[in-house]
Amino acid sequence: MSKPRILVARAVFPEVITRLEQHFEVESNPTDEAWSKPQLIARLKGKQGAFTTGGDRIDAEVLVACPDLKICANMAVGYNNFDLDAMTTAGVLATNAPDVLTETTADFGFALLMATARRITESEHFLRAGKWSQWSYDMFAGSDIHGATLGILGMGRIGQGIAKRGAHGFGMKVIYHNRSRLDAALEADCKASYVSKEELLRSADHLVLVLPYSAESHHTIGAAELAMMKPTATLVNIARGGIVDDAALAAALKDRRIAAAGLDVFEGEPKVHPDLLSVPNVVLTPHIASATLPTRMAMADLAASNLIAFFEGKRPPTPLNPSLLATK
Ligand code: GLV
Repeated sequence: MSKPRILVARAVFPEVITRLEQHFEVESNPTDEAWSKPQLIARLKGKQGAFTTGGDRIDAEVLVACPDLKICANMAVGYNNFDLDAMTTAGVLATNAPDVLTETTADFGFALLMATARRITESEHFLRAGKWSQWSYDMFAGSDIHGATLGILGMGRIGQGIAKRGAHGFGMKVIYHNRSRLDAALEADCKASYVSKEELLRSADHLVLVLPYSAESHHTIGAAELAMMKPTATLVNIARGGIVDDAALAAALKDRRIAAAGLDVFEGEPKVHPDLLSVPNVVLTPHIASATLPTRMAMADLAASNLIAFFEGKRPPTPLNPSLLATK
């Protein structure tokens, strides 16, 4: 019997390709060329499965052009690159890669918070530019993390990981807002108190965004929300570009309406709003929150496991539209 055909849309660990080749006819992308939508469609035609990353858009146009497709396995926990409704209507299973990246991503969220609050990259740029001529009492004075109020918007697994680091490691007071309130045991574990979005914005010394991106969460943080924040506050986005209105944020940073921001994700990335590149009080990283080799390997392996289980007629570990499996 011939093996199912799959497309691996971006370069990935050779070990994972080797594992996939044991089960599938694999077309991969070893040069890691970023394909346009028509290029993706051309390669996906005739394939039954796809191994995608967060940058590969699977929508109705792709689904209509690729009627053989049965499953797309995303090597990311976020799946805003999938039109999940269109995939469900087309009978295409979607899977993502949760859990395996939680602690690594929470570590990074905290690292970005610390770099932002303590002005680490801004001061390094100053030093590298040869501008450090003498000590001064307020040079790059930042804001304290220990004992401060940590606000978390989006209290899923990663948000909880950040809350625990803040509460247990740094003695922070943790407040959060989420679509649904955590149960009492989880709140106690995270030492976190539920507040309204407005109270979160007004009270946080450091606000970390960890909510999923969707049409509803587009520009959750815009000029009005930034205006509610303390002028001394910092804002960290490790969630998705588009949750923050980057132009409004750049203006707020320029006018010092908030103290600083740390951004790992951007609207329209890999492009970055030019005003963010010219303000000094922002730490910018290129969407690397889950980027340690063991975690990226675990994410790739989970995406591969989803594909393999599906074509073996087993339940894939992390389906996003599991209603399709019930009718299989
Ligand atoms: C990374 O952004 C992910 O969603 O895994």
